[in-house]
Parts: sequence; structure tokens; C-alpha cells
Amino acid sequence: EKVVLAFSGGLDTSVCVKLLEEKYDVEVITACVDVGQGEEEMERAKTMASKIGGLKHYNIDAKDEFANEYIARAIKANAEYEGYPLSTALARPLIAQKIIDVAEKEGATAIAHGCTGKGNDQFRFEAVILAMSDLDIIAPIRELNLTRTEEQEYAASKGIELSSDKLYSIDENIWGRSIEGDILEDPSNEPPEEIYAWTKSWKDSNDEPEKVTIEFEEGVPVAINGEMMPLIDLIRKANEIAGNNSVGRVDTIENRMIGLKSRENYEVPGAKLLIAAHQALEELVLTTDELRFAEYMSTLYADLVYRALWQEPLREDLDQAFDKMQERVSGEVVMKLFKGSIQPLVRKSPFSLHSIEQITFEDKETDQREVEGMIKYHGLQAANYQKLNR
Ligand code: ARG
Ligand code: SIN
Repeated sequence: EKVVLAFSGGLDTSVCVKLLEEKYDVEVITACVDVGQGEEEMERAKTMASKIGGLKHYNIDAKDEFANEYIARAIKANAEYEGYPLSTALARPLIAQKIIDVAEKEGATAIAHGCTGKGNDQFRFEAVILAMSDLDIIAPIRELNLTRTEEQEYAASKGIELSSDKLYSIDENIWGRSIEGDILEDPSNEPPEEIYAWTKSWKDSNDEPEKVTIEFEEGVPVAINGEMMPLIDLIRKANEIAGNNSVGRVDTIENRMIGLKSRENYEVPGAKLLIAAHQALEELVLTTDELRFAEYMSTLYADLVYRALWQEPLREDLDQAFDKMQERVSGEVVMKLFKGSIQPLVRKSPFSLHSIEQITFEDKETDQREVEGMIKYHGLQAANYQKLNR
């Protein structure tokens, strides 16, 4: 019996290879999906797979698909859950789909993953596997109710050498890094500098503010500092620039799906920069009512993505609504980055609804007196109500 394991080469999934062979008596094929976590991580997966000795290993490139079909949508939607730009949550459905493809190709009977029974990722993987395949699911860490220390001991007993002796659980893709576990679990501990890999501390960051120009077409960034590039490269560049300015560290108490409160640390420099720039442009081109409705849709959208409901039709409906609304979100934004802060400096668009002729105090064309009539009726009901009290 063959099982395809979603594999990263970290503690959970490395332990899973041996557990599946020993306790489940199956043949393990490992697969690692490249969603921009970096060459090194992909190499680590491959090396670990061959060291631990599974049957066969796949590295699957899904970087462009992740950027164009998932992150682009998240940008259009300004999707953030409790201040977290959903990096892990967004990639899970794509990873699950790619693992299904491998399982079907290999004639496997089940998919295995290394998620615990405490988090959100188990829901995200399994929702897609249930909706999109007839494969069985094996979740060894959850089913055997293992702690991370037990996992570490088991790994040592099997001669599995891990790249870190820390018990952090780290998930990375091009849209962000999620870091949890170990001493971070206690919100009364300050996060140590060592957890960060993409962002400089405010002390080490640039001492002068940095300006960055981002150009959008229909809600999606297409150029950075005047240079057109594929979205995946643009995000990498945005991560670099924002990270150098200490932008994108999120330290939050998150409300997980099963109700647990969890202290979560994220590094999301590019995501924070691009979403802020996108919002700055939307303010210029969307109407009051569009902006309000987009904010409501954004909350719904982020909730669906966070709560493992990528397959929900409302997610697709919202994407269509965003696509329509984003047709006018084209133009250029200059953002200022300095020691962790992001601010818009300049916004320009051919679809701007802002009119300098109308707004300027120097204008004679708009007759100010015309507003008097509007004012009279604007608060009519409130005035009637107050009259009753008087
Ligand atoms: N709390 C985040 C989320 O639910 C991050 C999960 C991180 N996953 C991990 N395996 N470390 O999206
Ligand atoms: C896990 O528990 O497997 C990682 C964290 C999460 O899924 O939220």
C-alpha cells in the first residue's frame, strides 16, 4: 500500500516517514511543494527524504501558480486575518491539490500529513483532500497524540538528524514565515531575535527612510521601482526591501479554528508592503460605497481562507466581485518605509475619482452656496427627533 506524505524535511514530517512505515505498515512516497519557501528549503526536503529513506521523493514547482492564482487574489482582497496576511493558510489548498495529483499518479491509497490535532493546517489539508479526491487521510502526529518532545525523541531513536534542535514550528512560503512553538508559546516571553530570518530588527534596519514605487494593474502589482517583473519575483523583491526596513513583524494572539488562543509570530514584509500600497491606491479610485463593501468582503474572504474553506463557493463569488471592482485599481503608489512603519507618499491613477479642480479652496467654479440646500435636508430625521425632545 502506497501513501504520499506532504513533506518538508522538518521535525513533524520527518518523524511521519518512519511512523508510517513502522506503525501503519505502508510504503511512503514523499512530496514537497515549492511555494517559494526557497531553494535551501527545497534542497533540505530532498536531502532529508533520501537520508530517511522513503520510497521516492517529488519536488513540485508551484511557485508561479501560488503567486498568480492565490496571492494575487489575496492582494485584490487585502486579505488579512487578525492582522496576519494568511501566508500559511493560502498555500495549504494548493499544496494539498499538488499532493493529490502525485497520489493519483502513483496509485496511492492515502495522503498523509504532519499536522497536529491542535492547529488549523489539518483542516486545510483535509478539506481539499475530502472535496477533491477519494483518497484516505492519515495524520500520524494527531492519531498518535504526540508531543513535539516525543517527536524529537523518536527522531533521535531512529537516527534522524534535524537541522535545528529548537522546537519551533516554522512554515515558510513566498508570502510569509509563520513561527510558533517553543518559548513563543508563552505570551509573557519576548520573541527572541533568532526567530527572524527575513526582517532586520529596527536597530539594524536602514537609518534613512526608503521610498519604493509600486505599479498596479487591475489590483495586482506589476512593477517595483520602475521594473516590470513576474509577480513571484516582485514579491521576493518586496520582501527584501521591506525586510531591510524592519517592516512586517507581526506578534499576535490568534484565535484558532478550534477556539484555542495561540501566540503567533509572522514575518510578512512583502505582504504588508504590497497590501498597504494596494489599499492606498484603492482609496484614490474606489467610491465610498465600494470601499465600505470591499472592507466587508475582505473580512469574509480572510475568514474563509483562514478557516479552511477555500473550496466554499462564496470564496469564488467574492473573487469575482473583487475582480470586477479591481478593474479600475491601476496606477502608481510611492510608499515610505522606515524602521517598521509604512506610509503612502504619492498615488496616481488614470481612474482617480479625486479632482484637484473640485477640492481646491482656490476654486471658483463650484459654487459653495449650492451646498446649503443639501445641508438643510441632510439631517432632517435627526432634527425632527430632537424637536420632539425639545
Ligand atoms: N497560525 C497560522 C495559520 O493558521 C500559521 C500556521 C503555521 N503552521 C505551521 N505548521 N507552523 O495559518
Ligand atoms: C500544527 O498544529 O500542525 C501547526 C499549526 C497549525 O496548523 O495552526
